[in-house]
Amino acid sequence: MSNLTRRDVLKGAGALLAGSTLPLSMVEMAFADKSKNFTFAYISDSHIQHIKSSQFVRNWDRGLIRAVAETNLMDPKPDFVFYGGDIAQLGKKSEIDHGLEILSGLRNKVHYVMGEHDYYLDLGEHWKKRLGPDYYSFDHKGVHFVVLNSIMTDHDWTHNTWSSGEERMNVMAGLDDPRGSAFMVGDKQRAWLKADLAKVDKNTPLVVFSHSPLQKLFKNWNFWTDDAEQIQALLKPFKKVNVFYGHVHQIQYNQIGNISFHSAMATAWPWPYPKSYSKATNYMPKLTVPINRADPFFERDATGWQYIDINSGNATMTFSLTDNKTRVVAFNPKTKQPEDTKYQGNTIPPQEHY
Ligand SMILES: [Fe+2]
Ligand SMILES: [Fe+2]
Repeated sequence: MSNLTRRDVLKGAGALLAGSTLPLSMVEMAFADKSKNFTFAYISDSHIQHIKSSQFVRNWDRGLIRAVAETNLMDPKPDFVFYGGDIAQLGKKSEIDHGLEILSGLRNKVHYVMGEHDYYLDLGEHWKKRLGPDYYSFDHKGVHFVVLNSIMTDHDWTHNTWSSGEERMNVMAGLDDPRGSAFMVGDKQRAWLKADLAKVDKNTPLVVFSHSPLQKLFKNWNFWTDDAEQIQALLKPFKKVNVFYGHVHQIQYNQIGNISFHSAMATAWPWPYPKSYSKATNYMPKLTVPINRADPFFERDATGWQYIDINSGNATMTFSLTDNKTRVVAFNPKTKQPEDTKYQGNTIPPQEHY
């Protein structure tokens, strides 16, 4: 990507979001032939929460309303918007409908992935009725995009453990509820993925969207997908893969072989990093330099743009963090991994609470 292109994107998105407190991502897909470049926006984890009658938790509404407004003002205009899951807090029809009503203000085509908060009340029935299949693929300007539902779990846990959908949803909605169950993509979707990818040339840039990370970071909070290795094996033959996920409500980045992993921020609230709050073993990517969070419950502490150079197969992400310093995560060809250009080796660790 030329400096001019990058400056132009920054000029548009930066002018719009300067001083903004909203987590919103602009992703540029860059090619050697610049006429092929395009952008898409990423919004995630709104957790719309119904109180009663026409009342919803105002703060979560405001986060999503603002994301929609700012996306509509982006320059250059994104080709489409990707929504990273958890529209609803407790999977209610009213929450999904209210969230989709707000999202209907977008002037773009929106692609959706399902989050666990959208699923575990009615096992995705209402979400699918409104939005269609929960796993699918599409092609856009030479890039193959795959969407996976990564928040499935054990059959018995889902169908034979709980007295009601509400009980099941409440257990899965708790970040650290020990009665929860590990997420997975599952056999059926992996078979579909294998067949879908068989039709794609291995030099085609591949982008995969999921809700949970397609890697194993911290099981207690389901920053985890149980069959991650099997999915990574299916992605391995491709020259370069970028995986985007929501769910973690924080910035993470990682590189496993040919796969670059990028998380999206939430419009609702940030989660602390696991090591700040739990003594349990976690595998947070060593590459990730955590955002400094003096107060992990400050709701609006990050907003970011990400630039992806698919031509070289590597990602450069520019994060503009409200109440923090802007940072750039760029691929270092010497070390062959993404690095936080300013903060790697000079980290400001999150505070520890035990
Ligand atoms: Fe979430
Ligand atoms: Fe989630």
